[in-house]
Amino acid sequence: MEKRIADELLLSAKEAKKRAYSPYSGFSVGAALLSEEGKVYLGCNIENASFTPTCCAERVAFFSAIAEGVKHFTAIAVVGDTAPCMPCGVCRQVMSEFCSENFEIICEGEMGEAVTLTLGELLPHSFGLKEKK
Ligand code: THU
Repeated sequence: MEKRIADELLLSAKEAKKRAYSPYSGFSVGAALLSEEGKVYLGCNIENASFTPTCCAERVAFFSAIAEGVKHFTAIAVVGDTAPCMPCGVCRQVMSEFCSENFEIICEGEMGEAVTLTLGELLPHSFGLKEKK
């Protein structure tokens, strides 16, 4: 991934983070998901008084794209109140449903620099379909 594109995605994730609804944890997260066609889908975490309906920023971005008929993705940038903000296990599993092992997850490092990991690194030996649709 080109540094310029990674930086743009991180900026978009920061914009999305401003829309987080997180009155219970006080922890805001934003995500920007890049489709293979080059379109960006945003997500923020959305919490609930009943706690379990809470949805992470990453899944909001994925579900928004999928609801628009888009299922092929290149990368996602994730920004939280602390750096780095790594996707939770549930979000990694959702990513593995739609993305290959080369899918890139871009987070901010402690010094504000972009840190990129692949889905294969974050979720090795995943459970799922062998052939991605
Ligand atoms: N959260 C995310 O949205 N994404 C992550 O990668 C980690 C956690 C949210 C869930 C919850 O609203 C809050 O952060 C605290 O866990």
